[in-house]
Amino acid sequence: MKLARSFFRPLAIGAPEPMRDLPVRLERMIHFVPPHIEKVRAKVPDLIHEVDVVLGNLEDAIPLDQKVAARKGFIAMAKANDFGQTGLWTRINALNSPWVLDDLTEIVGEVGDKLDVIMVPKVEGVWDIHYCDQLLAQLEARHGIRKPILIHAILETAEGVKNVEDIAAASPRMHGMSLGPADLAASRAMKTTRVGGGHPEYKVLADPDGTQPRAIYQQDLWHYTIAKMVDACAANGLKAFYGPFGDFADAQACETQFRNAFLLGCAGAWTLHPSQIGIAKSVFSPDRDEVAFARKILEAMPDGAGAVMIDGKMQDDATWKQAKVIVDLARFVASRDPDLAAVYGF
Ligand code: GLV
Ligand code: MG
Repeated sequence: MKLARSFFRPLAIGAPEPMRDLPVRLERMIHFVPPHIEKVRAKVPDLIHEVDVVLGNLEDAIPLDQKVAARKGFIAMAKANDFGQTGLWTRINALNSPWVLDDLTEIVGEVGDKLDVIMVPKVEGVWDIHYCDQLLAQLEARHGIRKPILIHAILETAEGVKNVEDIAAASPRMHGMSLGPADLAASRAMKTTRVGGGHPEYKVLADPDGTQPRAIYQQDLWHYTIAKMVDACAANGLKAFYGPFGDFADAQACETQFRNAFLLGCAGAWTLHPSQIGIAKSVFSPDRDEVAFARKILEAMPDGAGAVMIDGKMQDDATWKQAKVIVDLARFVASRDPDLAAVYGF
């Protein structure tokens, strides 16, 4: 294991110092764009004002004969726009693919100073993070990049889930993780062809009491993995995200899946279709009534200690901390979103 004192040293002479804490940014939705399509690139200037993160996708869903065009399109898109407060990310090809070395070298060389985060697919263990970490440091040094480019891992193989805690602790370059339910389902031999969300056959049946049909309760296929990912991320100061929800026509199910992830501790989700942007924005911004109640708790316990009753509910030091999570997030959302600032009354 690396010595504690070496953990925050740059991995290449001339590379920027690794960050001690994640930059504080709103990342309610990571919006995927296919950068090889010119029509899509033309919409990026508007998109920047609608989403928290724009991600140029180079991996799955990009046709093999468009892989190079997607990389070039991403570089063009990064150069052509000022992203301001909006994050600029890319999802590179898998580390065992023929494209990834050029993805990293060309993108960091051309637009490394504008890039916030590189999403790495199919991460299986610390070795994947260490490889990217070292290579990024070398490229940052070569190109005089001043701010370290962060790494976001997709949790989408059984081996990755087994190693999730080590992956989260692998490098100060780690930004966070997203659940990749499609690849993960395949890797585990789960019997679903859906991209995220529930499955009607994954259920619990109510005990027989003579009533027919017996009540059926659908369960969440992803609960265990999301909870495991959230713990690994939170314990290491990283952010956890729900990944893709593939049924664009089912806004209600998308919203429910996103909300489960939000309640469990996730900071955001991927949006693959414009219709999902509004869903993610509303789900990952705290609810107005929750914020109002949390503010009451903070006001009733100015020093965060002791016990009080509010609306018949017991509050103490721990609920004060729960309330602070919600109010801090609401203040942060409000600082970027005047409409929500008015809703919260800040
Ligand atoms: C995302 O990449 C997934 O496999 O779900
Ligand atoms: Mg995948």
